[in-house]
Amino acid sequence: MSEQHTPEAPRSWLLDRPLRGFALPTGRIGSLQGRLMGLLNGDEQDEASTLLAARPGEHVLEVGFGPGVLVQRTLAAGARVTGVDPSPQMAAQARRRNATAVSAGRADLRVGTAERTGLPGAAFDAVVSVNNVPMWSDLDAGMRELHRVLRPGGRAVVTWHGGARPRFVARRMLLADDVLDRIVTSMRAAFGAAELHRGDRLVAMLAHRASGEPD
Ligand SMILES: C[S@@+](CC[C@H](N)C(=O)[O-])C[C@H]1O[C@@H](n2cnc3c(N)ncnc32)[C@H](O)[C@@H]1O
Repeated sequence: MSEQHTPEAPRSWLLDRPLRGFALPTGRIGSLQGRLMGLLNGDEQDEASTLLAARPGEHVLEVGFGPGVLVQRTLAAGARVTGVDPSPQMAAQARRRNATAVSAGRADLRVGTAERTGLPGAAFDAVVSVNNVPMWSDLDAGMRELHRVLRPGGRAVVTWHGGARPRFVARRMLLADDVLDRIVTSMRAAFGAAELHRGDRLVAMLAHRASGEPD
């Protein structure tokens, strides 16, 4: 069965085609793609989880949570998690994967985007995005939104496939250095400072909202 894509399908700041497939899993095929990501992406999620270093009692926002594997890891670290993802299929799948925490009010997984979370400002200790920054419709608006929702002193972790040993299936999705520079530059414009970290299975853009900033 082929997927239908309307002319209104969202476009990203980087990709020159409407979002589809793993970039925006929709319909029944999208649910299968979500399951596949849940099975295959474990070591990248582990590395992102280590960088995020969520602590008990923290409130973490994940943008683009997909099947909700990192949500699961973050809850296991003792944090509360709010998440936004534009795909209703991913929201449903991530809620199922984290059903106990959703019922207990420790996880709130909604439809939304990095650029427009619909969430209050200065509300989160940390914000994380794994494997979706190239899909945002507007890179600068997304970075400004991540900065807005963080409390002063809060941290942002944005990752993409890469690093010293990218997974075999991720090797054709690596971002060129000039694109990584563009992402770091955008993060610096929003946060004042940002650094590029080259890990084992991923590259990460890291920043803090300055502690002295007003909410
Ligand atoms: C390749 S998947 C990665 C999912 C998950 N983070 C993971 O690593 O398994 C990309 C995800 O980004 C989401 N996405 C697409 N556009 C987005 C946007 N503008 N803001 C946030 N997430 C977006 C998609 O719905 C999808 O769930």
